[in-house]
Amino acid sequence: MIGGEHRGAGDESGSSGSHSAQSFYGRWAALYDWIARGTPGIRAVRQQAALACRLEPGDTVLEMGCGTGANLPFLAEQVGPTGRVIGLDFTGPVLDRARRATAHLEQVSVLRADATRPPIPDGAVDAVLGTFVVGMLSDPAGAVDEWIDLLAPDGHVVLVNAARSDAGTPLGPIVNAAFGAVVVLSTPPTMKLRYDRDLTDTLDRRIRTAHDRLRERSGAVADARHLGGIVRLTGGRLE
Ligand SMILES: C[S@@+](CC[C@H](N)C(=O)[O-])C[C@H]1O[C@@H](n2cnc3c(N)ncnc32)[C@H](O)[C@@H]1O
Repeated sequence: MIGGEHRGAGDESGSSGSHSAQSFYGRWAALYDWIARGTPGIRAVRQQAALACRLEPGDTVLEMGCGTGANLPFLAEQVGPTGRVIGLDFTGPVLDRARRATAHLEQVSVLRADATRPPIPDGAVDAVLGTFVVGMLSDPAGAVDEWIDLLAPDGHVVLVNAARSDAGTPLGPIVNAAFGAVVVLSTPPTMKLRYDRDLTDTLDRRIRTAHDRLRERSGAVADARHLGGIVRLTGGRLE
């Protein structure tokens, strides 16, 4: 069995300068859950992300920074009752919500741990999914390398992130202004990032770095845009 006690969610969370992020997401777990499930169009994005993992019945999939678990049912559907879905996050209260929301799905478990140092053996999973999480990591390319190491042969890593639209449409500036406001409100205040004048630049750079590293390291790549170009999905198959 990989990852230890999943249903019990033991505390294996590491430091990685992360206590502020944990208390932020912990405090706002209910609101975040509502946004994570209720944002118009987000359900379709989560479904596409699960499909991009290219899972088969019986497979094992690990979600990094699973938050309140909005992706977990879509992943469970892909692996079926004989597969395994592990939702990993370092914030206790969001994981509690994820566990409650998936209590009826036997194949789903949650694990409290640091996504940059996952306590999972190399080669143990068929896919790793990370939605809206690499922007929070100080070394996003290093995390992608780490996640690729966890894959079995032909495994996939899928990243989904929101970044400013570069579509150049007349609505672009409005969409980007709204995006900037959402980024400020949804970023833990003591991550320093939140008060950076160029917060969205930092997030954009981290996200670009992670997606680029995934493309470099993959034998086959699929890229897609959703929600007016703001949401980017990159799926890579291990070389
Ligand atoms: C913006 S939320 C996204 C949640 C979920 N993936 C979704 O799509 O709704 C980011 C999540 O990543 C988690 N997170 C951030 N850095 C992490 C790390 N180093 N290890 C584990 N979880 C982390 C936070 O606790 C939070 O739940």
